[in-house]
Amino acid sequence: MHPNDPSQISRRKVLTAGASLGCAWVLLRGTGEAGGVLLQAKGGTKMPFTQPPLPYALNALVPYLSEEQMQFHYGRHHAAYFRNLNALVEGKPEAEMTLREVVKRSSGSVFNNAGQAWNHTFYWHCMSPSGGGEPKGELAAAIERDFGSFQQFRKAFSDAAVTLFGSGWAWLAADADGRLSIMALSNADTPLRYDKEPILTIDVWEHAYYIDYRNERGRFVEGFWTVVNWDFALARYKQRNQPEW
Ligand SMILES: [Fe+2]
Repeated sequence: MHPNDPSQISRRKVLTAGASLGCAWVLLRGTGEAGGVLLQAKGGTKMPFTQPPLPYALNALVPYLSEEQMQFHYGRHHAAYFRNLNALVEGKPEAEMTLREVVKRSSGSVFNNAGQAWNHTFYWHCMSPSGGGEPKGELAAAIERDFGSFQQFRKAFSDAAVTLFGSGWAWLAADADGRLSIMALSNADTPLRYDKEPILTIDVWEHAYYIDYRNERGRFVEGFWTVVNWDFALARYKQRNQPEW
């Protein structure tokens, strides 16, 4: 079921953020084991999709996220999405596509696992042990233009992440012309399915925080701002029309 299917529109609830926020809006939609090691099928066949290495050590985000939390999230959950995806696409046309193409073009279980594989890889880069602070350059200017101020953006993004019902992701996304929006999307859904380019995301599936924060999603989201990787987000914004991701 493609999210751009008009039949899905009624399942979306679009909240306009008000005149003070310009054109910014919030979309609510119901709807390794070892990094860097090439996965091998039985018999030694190369698997089409490989979980990339974590861009920092498992304990690099302490005290925000413990090593145990990262071990489960990266080493178990993220790894499993790659493993499942490889099993699902074996011998199928999707095995010849890039992961981004699979995310944009697939449905059902293939989409769920491809989306989660792509989203998590993107998410790890949205955090950094040297992160925090405020956005810079043209991304800072766009945030101010589209949300009124960085503080207003931060509150709107946090609210979207905390109030998303069930499992999913809060995203900052850009149109081709650079207009920004916050999207709260369920399960494996991603701005790529709406022809928008992801700029920043936080995973609010319970598996992302339960070991460290139990059911306190609000504290988990608040802590995200201490590690947020604005350099990565700025690079994604600048390359939105020729994405490397
Ligand atoms: Fe996750």
